[in-house]
Amino acid sequence: MKIKVLGIAGSPRRGGNTDLLLDEALRGAKEAGAEVEKIYARDYKITPCIECNSCFKLGRCVIEDEMQKVYPKLLEADRIIFASPMFFMGITGWAKALVDRCQALWAKKYVLKEPVVEPERKSQRKGIFISVGGTKGKSLFDGAIRTMKIFFDAIDVTYSGELLYRSIDDKGEIKEHPTALQEAYEAGRKLVCEE
Ligand SMILES: Cc1cc2nc3c(=O)[nH]c(=O)nc-3n(C[C@H](O)[C@H](O)[C@H](O)COP(=O)(O)O)c2cc1C
Repeated sequence: MKIKVLGIAGSPRRGGNTDLLLDEALRGAKEAGAEVEKIYARDYKITPCIECNSCFKLGRCVIEDEMQKVYPKLLEADRIIFASPMFFMGITGWAKALVDRCQALWAKKYVLKEPVVEPERKSQRKGIFISVGGTKGKSLFDGAIRTMKIFFDAIDVTYSGELLYRSIDDKGEIKEHPTALQEAYEAGRKLVCEE
């Protein structure tokens, strides 16, 4: 059985910097033998979490929108590559809506104490975070990394690392970076090859 890799593009800008990096990472994953799927968060109509806490009792989200198409993809994936640029020091609103709706899975795990995925798959699931920002502050990615770590934990994915690039602003500017695209390719490959 092939390893399933899900790439999530959090930027609204198609062909932008994180999108290009994600494509390279997925190319690396595919060449390592994985089955890859890429989704754009902006293609799905995802209502932000309304904090009704129904998930605390049901272990699932009661909002019937297109996030219901995303949950199975998140749960079936063996690897997740989550790409989002920095928007106001965090991931984009598109990406954050998707992440916040995983409160339903958090509740399943931590409130209801039920497995999110089959126990034997839990330790196999891994993910990485890809991001860029137009500025170059030392702490630029700190908040987003914390968001990604808690998100991955909620959906039973081990946080396996990140690729972060500062001072990248214009669309496609990442192509001028000396190593970024190659690093993304290698990261995708490694994510599939590592045990
Ligand atoms: C709404 C918005 C907010 C942004 N906020 C930040 C920020 O807080 N810090 C930063 O370094 N860059 C910020 N940027 C710049 C983007 O991170 C940068 O342009 C990035 O290269 C976009 O990546 P993409 O091409 O993958 O969309 C912001 C851009 C937009 C449109």
